[in-house]
Amino acid sequence: MRPIRIALTKGRLEKMSVQLFTKMGLDCTALIEKGRKLILPVGPYEAVLAKAADVITYIEHGVCDVGIVGKDTIVENGTSFYEVMDLGFGCCRFALAGPEGQNFFGGHNVKRIATKYPKVARAYFESKGMDVQIIKIEGSVELAPLLGLSDAIVDIVETGTTLRENGLEVIEEIMPVSARVIVNMASMKLRREEIETFLAQMEQAKEALQ
Ligand code: PRP
Repeated sequence: MRPIRIALTKGRLEKMSVQLFTKMGLDCTALIEKGRKLILPVGPYEAVLAKAADVITYIEHGVCDVGIVGKDTIVENGTSFYEVMDLGFGCCRFALAGPEGQNFFGGHNVKRIATKYPKVARAYFESKGMDVQIIKIEGSVELAPLLGLSDAIVDIVETGTTLRENGLEVIEEIMPVSARVIVNMASMKLRREEIETFLAQMEQAKEALQ
């Protein structure tokens, strides 16, 4: 049987994930000195580094057993897996944001919203009973209102620096976001003992990190 395989989100969550594994007593040398290698040993486990949405795809299809991914990606893309732990890092929030001083909720025109998260944006405006036009953007969403493409954005805000430096402000907070641990449903049944051991170690290391 192959080792338990862990899918890690590249980028912002990567450093904290490595710190967490180190606290778990796992040898992260290969993960730290990874070069261009894609599957890396981490103690007795195997780790892969992937884009956030792909972490969910690998877990849902069962080619990885355990994943670390942001709640933002989960609410936008995920359905069929177990979400088992809030890691308490990678904390930020979903927010509606727009140009400083703009009265977003005023007027009767259908507002245009740029976002990387159309599902989250749609659900948010539906809950307000507001009809909006959603425009999907892949990155640097803050550009859209600056270029006149949208009236506002729905995006994640961490320090607020990107908004501030571009003359934008939070209009309303939507929901908090942090890194979560997800587990493939079949793995949870078939490799329960190994996964529970891993999760117990992780829970302990998480406390030690804080
Ligand atoms: C995220 C998000 C904001 C920024 C918020 O983008 O989409 O642009 O971080 O962080 P801040 O509040 O600390 O400024 P990311 O850097 O992940 O890249 P992207 O915009 O290309 O998606």
